[in-house]
Amino acid sequence: MKSRGEKLVIAIDGEAGSGKSTVAKEVAQRLGFRKLDTGAMYRAITLLAIERGIALSSAAEIEELSRRTEMNVWWEDDDFRIAVDGRDVTTEIRSSAVTAAVSEVSAHEGMRKVLVDKQREIGRRYDIVAEGRDMGTVVFRDTKLKFFLRANDAVRARRRKKDLDNLGEKMDIEKIREDILIRDEKDASRRVAPLKMAEDAFLIDTSDMNVDEVVALILAKVRDHESFRHRRVE
Ligand code: DC
Repeated sequence: MKSRGEKLVIAIDGEAGSGKSTVAKEVAQRLGFRKLDTGAMYRAITLLAIERGIALSSAAEIEELSRRTEMNVWWEDDDFRIAVDGRDVTTEIRSSAVTAAVSEVSAHEGMRKVLVDKQREIGRRYDIVAEGRDMGTVVFRDTKLKFFLRANDAVRARRRKKDLDNLGEKMDIEKIREDILIRDEKDASRRVAPLKMAEDAFLIDTSDMNVDEVVALILAKVRDHESFRHRRVE
């Protein structure tokens, strides 16, 4: 039986460009939950490693960096924001330099433990929609509300191109598609917490769906689930 005051976690995992982030934000808004962007946490450590010339392949140095860094997340008008050592890096972490390096950095186990502890602490404090790669399999494996989003390569490349265009970065769509596939391969084949669908997750292929349709499907599943209904009548 869920104790009074215990927080709810909705876990949304998926490949790069599957639509997780947009969908997670919308689902969180509709339920009055907070969106936790765990990819942003790995990106923030990656940004610092690049800036400081730390070897991305060094598990010990990356772990040390994550232990020394004060990481804060907060929400402004429902938008998730992240700061490291008091510096807001929410926008900078989206650059293609960070995107190209983040898979290598996020494969290190020691650093992951530091960030996973942080993610769980946030999950104990707030009702959250947590998005990432290992939300349903590792970090919040006890939640009953798990979704896994997938989309075909062409659609994912188009979505990523739009994000980059908005950042003012011009990149060829074919190169973006290749990069996405390389990143997924790295994320899925790593030893620790690989990108993988939890056995009890609900799979949604978003290739031919718009954001509203995906959100409606997730909200229907969540509202129908006993762990959510139970909470509302407490
Ligand atoms: O969701 P994103 O593209 O911003 O994530 C960036 C990278 O961070 C992704 O390539 C793998 C890593 N990541 C991870 O290892 N575990 C998570 N829970 C979230 C992201």
